[in-house]
Amino acid sequence: MKRLAWIAFATAITLFLQGCAGWQSALDPKGPAASELAWLIWFFTGLCAVVWVLVMIALAVPLTMRPRLHAEPLVIDAGAENRKLRVVMTAVGLTAVILVGLTLLSFFANRTLAAIGSDTALTIRVTGHQWWWEVRYEDATPSRILTTANEIHIPAGEPVRLLLTSTDVIHSFWVPSLSGKLDLIPGRMNVLDIKADKPGIYRGQCAEFCGAQHANMGTFIIAEPRAKFDAWWNDQLQPAAAPTSDEAKAGENLFLKRPCVMCHKIGGTPAGGTVAPDLTHIASRQTLAAGTLTMSRGNLAAWIADPQGVKPGSHMPVVDLSGDELNAIVAYLEGLK
Ligand code: CUA
Repeated sequence: MKRLAWIAFATAITLFLQGCAGWQSALDPKGPAASELAWLIWFFTGLCAVVWVLVMIALAVPLTMRPRLHAEPLVIDAGAENRKLRVVMTAVGLTAVILVGLTLLSFFANRTLAAIGSDTALTIRVTGHQWWWEVRYEDATPSRILTTANEIHIPAGEPVRLLLTSTDVIHSFWVPSLSGKLDLIPGRMNVLDIKADKPGIYRGQCAEFCGAQHANMGTFIIAEPRAKFDAWWNDQLQPAAAPTSDEAKAGENLFLKRPCVMCHKIGGTPAGGTVAPDLTHIASRQTLAAGTLTMSRGNLAAWIADPQGVKPGSHMPVVDLSGDELNAIVAYLEGLK
């Protein structure tokens, strides 16, 4: 029975701690900023736990002591009063030292975070929209400027500067495994420097309530070796792949004739809308609708057929399409790798 209780306890603890790991956890840092913050979290938590235990002991001891009855309650014992005063003064002094110490630690941690961006080679502008992320890679050569959505590729091991802004309401950019959070505010440009130590995929989440689909405003940082990242950028700069099958060709025609073009851009075609995600290479992304659905033919069809069912309140309207028309558009989009 005792053994069983131990097994249950160990399982519960393991499952509990499992929640601290993974691709979206401030306690599982994968970059210098997140490591600094995780260290700070553990130190603050540890120190505060020690203080809490000491306060509880200081409270419990007098509560459990048997009260001493004074023969003369009104006579003041000067020695005892002095001892009490010393204990209180020591506690006040220690509290001040701890608070000043924690403030200094936070200050130096901030300096460490600021130093990450001292030599950034890459600048990415991230614009928050209800409810997706516009991602624009800046470059001195205008033809190399790249706009995509929701997934942010970065070179691993290199500091990257993110310029954060918004077109509608306040959002907050948070990829816990890499960095702290920072707001995206309309009319303002906030700067967040991030770095991923190793290649990997790190999930991010909008961290400021921004309307009905706040919870479905996910993002992914995809850190890759430099060569792979450069190849990705070059691929993304290419215009959209031309449709190869008859069905996909019909889909392209439909896309260009229907309201889709009012909002979406597909490079190399007349579709040039900029209020919704750029679809030039949509099929190269891993998810749809800012992390709401995984990329697949079925999910593309579901999303286009019933965006309000998938993501109620989203600004993607229902476009009236027959079954064949829907299949054709999906076949076209599926080819946009
Ligand atoms: Cu965007 Cu919450």
